[in-house]
Amino acid sequence: DWTPEHFIQSTVERVRAQVGTGHAICGLSGGVDSSVAAVLVARAIGDRLTCIFVNNGVLRKDEFQKVQTTMREQLGLNVVAVDSSERFLAKLAGVTDPEQKRKVIGNEFIAVFDDEAKKIFEAEKSSGEEIAWLVQGTLYPDVIESSSVHGPSHTIKSHHNVGGLPADMKLKLIEPLRDLFKDEVRRIGRDLGMPDDIIERQPFPGPGLAVRILGEVTAERVAILQEADQIVVDEIKKAGLYRKVWQSFAVLLPVKSVGVMGDQRTYANTCAVRAVESEDGMTADWAPLPYEVLRTISSRIVSEVRGINRVVYDITSKPPGTIEWE
Ligand code: XMP
Repeated sequence: DWTPEHFIQSTVERVRAQVGTGHAICGLSGGVDSSVAAVLVARAIGDRLTCIFVNNGVLRKDEFQKVQTTMREQLGLNVVAVDSSERFLAKLAGVTDPEQKRKVIGNEFIAVFDDEAKKIFEAEKSSGEEIAWLVQGTLYPDVIESSSVHGPSHTIKSHHNVGGLPADMKLKLIEPLRDLFKDEVRRIGRDLGMPDDIIERQPFPGPGLAVRILGEVTAERVAILQEADQIVVDEIKKAGLYRKVWQSFAVLLPVKSVGVMGDQRTYANTCAVRAVESEDGMTADWAPLPYEVLRTISSRIVSEVRGINRVVYDITSKPPGTIEWE
């Protein structure tokens, strides 16, 4: 019979035997899957796992700092954090096409990850040991999906959860979650004593806020969206709805409209609020958020976020809409 305890025990034993005295690296995203995979492998081989966490410039507000703290202090992981936001934003300048954004971010991520992995590899080699393993939080649905449907819209997934290893690095793959569904991964995470903050986290796309900023992604627009997004998530949590909705977030539109603030006329950005209910992200219904929650979200965004003077609620389900706007 499948139980979390049994799964953890047998996985830890298997990984320990596989890796032997070798080293492993793991890309962290801050999400459930990569975190659970990392914690499992760390149980098996301890400090011989090095995690790499990259700031791609399109993370949520304070996420780069917060994830580092959680991973190091609460989960005891050995984390190399790389702030590459400027490098990503420079590459994103002038890019407005959604798939092009994904491509740019995916390629840049691989380049940064590769650099860091090489550094770790060199350091370990000089101490007479060899890094031989790459840990990935691939789930069973990722395995299915990358063999069929989504294709180019999941560039990061296809590169970084399944295959796509840098050609000159002879890394062997460890995918401890390959046979599992999301709810099983959450059960394992809980059993491993991981905090709710990570276990219950809503999915967040690899290309991050870049696919929620319609039009060009600039540092200024990222900062505006981070503020609005934080308010949406905050209020959804306060209303006790964070676990009930599959995803809830803000989208920054390339549309300016006229407003009035005090006795001043404003002319500023529009923000769309999106909240959906779903089992797996393949289909989704827009969430019937209580008017009170929408009211608070709207008034807080308009009064607290400089640069946004209008908020709209997205009432499109999937299909025919998608969850993300890009
Ligand atoms: P859509 O917008 O296609 O999204 O309805 C379905 C689910 O996939 C996530 N998503 C992505 N995840 N890289 C990712 O890692 C991507 O490029 C990407 N695009 C969409 C989306 O957040 C939703 O959960």
